[in-house]
Amino acid sequence: MSENISPTKQEAAAELERLAKEIAEHDERYHGQDAPAVSDAEYDALRRRNLELEELYPDLIRPDSPSKTVGSTVQDKFEKITHVVPMLSLDNAFNDEDVADFVARVKRFLKLADGAPLALTAEPKIDGLSLALRYENGVLVSAATRGDGTVGENVTANAKTISDIPHQLKGDDVPDVVEVRGEVYLGKSDFAELNRKMEEQGKQTYVNPRNTAAGSLRQLDSSITASRPLKFFAYAWGDISDVPSNSQFGMVELFKKWGFTVNPLMGLFDGVEGLIERYRLIEEQRAGLDYDIDGVVYKVDDLALQQRLGFVSRSPRWAIAHKFPAELATTVLKDIEIQVGRTGALSPVARLEPVTVGGVVVSNATLHNEDYIAGIGSNGEIIREGKDLRVGDTVTIYRAGDVIPKVRDVDLSKRLKDAKAIEFPEICPACGSPASRDVNEKTGKVDSVRRCTGGFICPAQAVEGIKHFVSRNAFDIDGLGEKQAEAFYEWGLVSNPADIFTLKTRDERSLTRLENRDGFGKLSATNLFDAIDARREIDLHRFIYALGIRHVGEGNAKLFARHYHSIGAFMAAMDDSAPLSGPAWEELVNIDGIGEAAAQAVVRFFADPSRRSVVDALLENVTPIDAEQASSESPVSGKTVVFTGSLEQMSRDEAKAMAERLGAKVSGSVSGKTDLVVAGPGAGSKLKKAADLGVEVTDEDGWFDLVGRI
Ligand code: IVH
Repeated sequence: MSENISPTKQEAAAELERLAKEIAEHDERYHGQDAPAVSDAEYDALRRRNLELEELYPDLIRPDSPSKTVGSTVQDKFEKITHVVPMLSLDNAFNDEDVADFVARVKRFLKLADGAPLALTAEPKIDGLSLALRYENGVLVSAATRGDGTVGENVTANAKTISDIPHQLKGDDVPDVVEVRGEVYLGKSDFAELNRKMEEQGKQTYVNPRNTAAGSLRQLDSSITASRPLKFFAYAWGDISDVPSNSQFGMVELFKKWGFTVNPLMGLFDGVEGLIERYRLIEEQRAGLDYDIDGVVYKVDDLALQQRLGFVSRSPRWAIAHKFPAELATTVLKDIEIQVGRTGALSPVARLEPVTVGGVVVSNATLHNEDYIAGIGSNGEIIREGKDLRVGDTVTIYRAGDVIPKVRDVDLSKRLKDAKAIEFPEICPACGSPASRDVNEKTGKVDSVRRCTGGFICPAQAVEGIKHFVSRNAFDIDGLGEKQAEAFYEWGLVSNPADIFTLKTRDERSLTRLENRDGFGKLSATNLFDAIDARREIDLHRFIYALGIRHVGEGNAKLFARHYHSIGAFMAAMDDSAPLSGPAWEELVNIDGIGEAAAQAVVRFFADPSRRSVVDALLENVTPIDAEQASSESPVSGKTVVFTGSLEQMSRDEAKAMAERLGAKVSGSVSGKTDLVVAGPGAGSKLKKAADLGVEVTDEDGWFDLVGRI
């Protein structure tokens, strides 16, 4: 439709017909298959357009109009529930060696001898979706999906239709409050039966049990959920008023006693061999099980040790998922395209002849970087997974971690005579700026990634940056999704994130109002401006994440927010860290979970004038909300602590993690800002410096007296 001109009645009728069909298709994909083809924002835009046309021509409202059905995006579907204890994810192990490393890492952290016994559980990793069930005085009061790990959806009515989920817990040892967590899944045979019925009725079949289970649980109409034979395995817990066992295994036994179904293949073992043996057994039985599993989860059994081990960003240190090797499929590489990402990385993408892998149709695969395609690195080294890939090659592909498709092998016997190796571009395909590979100053090695040097002048980087900024875990602006970000950039309305917040004021003075542009109307423009206004205040960690700094994902953004509390303190610390040395820099690289690469990237980001000016412009219109001070009751909260000398009761890593959990900052060097030095035997210059500066000094026992044995 052209700008400014309302559609004729005939045009509107045709568009309404098309919208009804399209929205119904999206609804089916979303509800029935849990495999949406468009973003929530794009879906909302379609619904808004439908409403607009109906407002214009009320007599054209169709009997099958989408406005007569309830909207189905996550935002307005279910009430939200904030998890009292976040729902985290698991780190992965891909082979026996990774498992041995995991156990060794745990022992090192706990300062246990290599040969010391350490009990761990092993159990199947169920390929379903996690659910948190809250019981108060033994009665089920709520059920929440994982959501983003912090906030999930309230699906209580639906969960109540699942026969494995007790409404009332049995036994006299049920805590007053207990949140039992586990996996909802659809059995393989039930899935096959469901699809048989769909086929019989001439309807489209479902893609796989996992997506169908997810779609079934998120139905607005509980009777639909009830008609799908969903099941549930209990394997973990969240909020709990008192913990009635001291072991993981004991807790799961209690779950069983209280009335839950627990997985019969769970076992308790005393070392790596036992775990691997159980892994092999589960792997052998996998095909015969009536539910999909994608690995085996190992957990430290002793809950006191779990507590000591704690978490690193989004995963517990005390557990790991040992994944099964991924399913393979053979197809043809049709083309290689170069995409430019938000950080300027030139990423080659394989365009494939579509093929089904693990129940999903795959037509693209990541090719990582140019060395990967060539099979040989710029330093002359053979790339372990590298391929010598040519267009026209027959390739085997797999879904890594069962998600991102990758190329495993090339079948050289099928290589066509004229198959040509691609020449990787040395200029950015999006902006023509030189694209170069960094050389690591320390090692002299050439980075495997080629990057566009265009920065903000590169449209691809700019657009990707805006898309990231508005994405779900960043600013999450309703009605401003990937499609709109691209359009706004193209129309010259938004060239960087800061422009989003001046859009409304500029629009009021503009000759071409947003409401007259393609895909918009009065209502959708107003809604968009309201949605933007709603984000003028935002949690600090979201703000930091949204900036799209290299190596700063959600996990690191949260660590920064928790450590520095306010945007002012954070930016000042980054400025002070600019020399990549000195106390501020030390403090930064010493944050538990922050690596050197992320530390450097964030300092460089704020030191780059063009990026800095965007941040400054943003801060004129957006207020990041200070992060809460971590556990302010702790005696070391907000204090700066230095550990020195050899510690005997805990490893250095554990000491640091404990201090940070209690809200302290851990620094590697003693300065005027140090509040406490914990010194073990052999402490030298730092102890002396503490004495010189009059800083309080204690030993390991003194530390435990202060913070308690936790
Ligand atoms: S334990 C702190 N045990 O895997 C982590 N998770 O990647 C507690 N999952 O979101 C999770 N089977 O949905 C655990 N036996 C099992 C599991 C399991 C499947 C899922 C769960 C979680 C994801 C983590």
